Amino acid sequence: MNIQSDVSLQLLHTLRLKSQARALCTVSGTAELRTALAWARAEGLPPAVLGEGSNVVLPEYWETLVILQRIPGIEVLSQDGKSVRLRVGAGENWHAFVAWALGQGYFGLENLALIPGTVGAAPIQNIGAYGVEVASFVESVHGLVTVDAAEVTLSTADCQFGYRNSVFKGALRDEVIITAVDLRLSKQPSSQTGYPSLQAHLESAGIDSATPEQVFNAVMDIRRSKLPDPAVQPNAGSFFKNPVLDTAGANALRERFPDIPCYEQSDGSVKVAAAWLIDQCGWRGHRVRGVGVHSEHALVLVNDGGDSAQELLRLADAIAADVAAKFDIDLAIEPRVYL
Ligand code: EPU
Repeated sequence: MNIQSDVSLQLLHTLRLKSQARALCTVSGTAELRTALAWARAEGLPPAVLGEGSNVVLPEYWETLVILQRIPGIEVLSQDGKSVRLRVGAGENWHAFVAWALGQGYFGLENLALIPGTVGAAPIQNIGAYGVEVASFVESVHGLVTVDAAEVTLSTADCQFGYRNSVFKGALRDEVIITAVDLRLSKQPSSQTGYPSLQAHLESAGIDSATPEQVFNAVMDIRRSKLPDPAVQPNAGSFFKNPVLDTAGANALRERFPDIPCYEQSDGSVKVAAAWLIDQCGWRGHRVRGVGVHSEHALVLVNDGGDSAQELLRLADAIAADVAAKFDIDLAIEPRVYL
């Protein structure tokens, strides 16, 4: 196994911050992953997994063995007339997998088109967009236990999925390294078009009952018009979670701010658009010391050439302080911060 020392991570994560790892290796199978974990243990270095690095804020110097997760493969486990069960390697690119599935006539993931990152990262934050979350399709998650490389399989219930949350961000954070994800997709086309901006986009294109392909294309159009391409303008997607309030809290807020975009949840709680809160505080488009707030979407912080994680987090703190002062709401940072 090729283990490199003192490697720059700047081009290995989408925020492109200045960051250097003590050691780095690439794994393309579970045997290699075991070897990497054994090496880290022998060296007394904690291991840390990086997929495509699209949801992380990295430190300037990282005393760790960075394991680049590149386990490939898409396997059909079983199928009938209605659905198909797939096992997908954790290192597969998420969007390429979504596009492949649609091409095969395996439906359900269209709303999750163009989300940056790997398949293995998808369950960790339970990626979600335009009214759909990956949790609805995950049957089980396979991995190795970090401490002894034992194989483990978690059911959907074990994963404890929630909004931008799972057991991999909680009790099993750093405890399990995901190697593959099993998903069940439908062979019968049906489209989820209820999310307001998706509905509006389809309506404006004169599309009445959208096919999965039309949803896939519409989601890509919307994302391209609002969200910066990390390959062009470094970012980690939404930098904050949308706050979830109880009904009383949401009603009180709606009375003070009637225009606030809110999404009723099935459990009675109400999700509030953090982008709107930040926008109302005047932060959209703001730039400071090489970092900033995207000019088309206030929830996305961008690295504008400053390269400093500290500056980015200082900006996030200032934004959160303004939102707390104006709306009495605490914003929670969404990407994993390793500082
Ligand atoms: N809005 C503003 N100002 C802005 C941007 C948006 O007022 O600068 C308003 C919009 O007008 C809209 C509302 O905020 O009424 C919500 O905006 P949007 O539909 O873009 O969704 P979001 O809640 O900001 C969430 C996810 C995104 C996902 C979209 C679409 C989170 C933290 N973010 O954003 O996910 O693509 O919904 O479903 O839940 C990500 O996690 O990285 C991500 C991009």
